[in-house]
Amino acid sequence: MNNLDFKIRKMNEGDIAQVVLLEKKALTPFFANSKSKDVLSDNPFARLKVATIQNEKGNEIVIGFIHYWITFDSATIAQIAVQSEFKRQGIANALLKVMNEECSFNNVRSITLEVKVDNIPAISLYEKDGFKKVSIKEHYYEDGTDAIYMVKEVN
Ligand code: COA
Repeated sequence: MNNLDFKIRKMNEGDIAQVVLLEKKALTPFFANSKSKDVLSDNPFARLKVATIQNEKGNEIVIGFIHYWITFDSATIAQIAVQSEFKRQGIANALLKVMNEECSFNNVRSITLEVKVDNIPAISLYEKDGFKKVSIKEHYYEDGTDAIYMVKEVN
């Protein structure tokens, strides 16, 4: 499916600086705005995964991440982002696959998310993964944009 040699693993403290850079470019910052040093352990329901590659010097570079919560039998995607130069190579899809497997393992029955109405790449990604548009949440985002509420029933 793709030729990029990336791996997906649990996010750790050493990844936070790179994730902050990535989310600042791509998303409403969550980690960057966090006042807590324990951002990885503050929410016991939160799950975080990073996609990484090795650069030519052999250093591990974060090129994407997903942040979601599993709360008993439901899950919510809070954030997903991929660095611009690595888009359209299946990384978000692979991050969703890892989340889907973890949800299945935890007997999650439905996964929900909100996405900006004009975010065509993300809406397409989620629809491809089986999410359905359920409703509009008006003025959901700080800039006044509406959100589409999407749900996927699983198990
Ligand atoms: N236009 C249309 N469909 C797109 C798309 C685009 N620009 N980017 C992804 N998709 C859809 C396609 O169906 C694609 O499958 P295909 O390549 O076989 O056609 C599918 O998503 C999987 O693409 P993938 O390569 O795994 O996605 P990605 O790694 O490029 O990451 C985002 C997708 C949305 C995470 C990425 O564009 C991003 O980081 N955007 C900024 C952050 C953001 O908006 N996050 C979502 C907030 S809710």
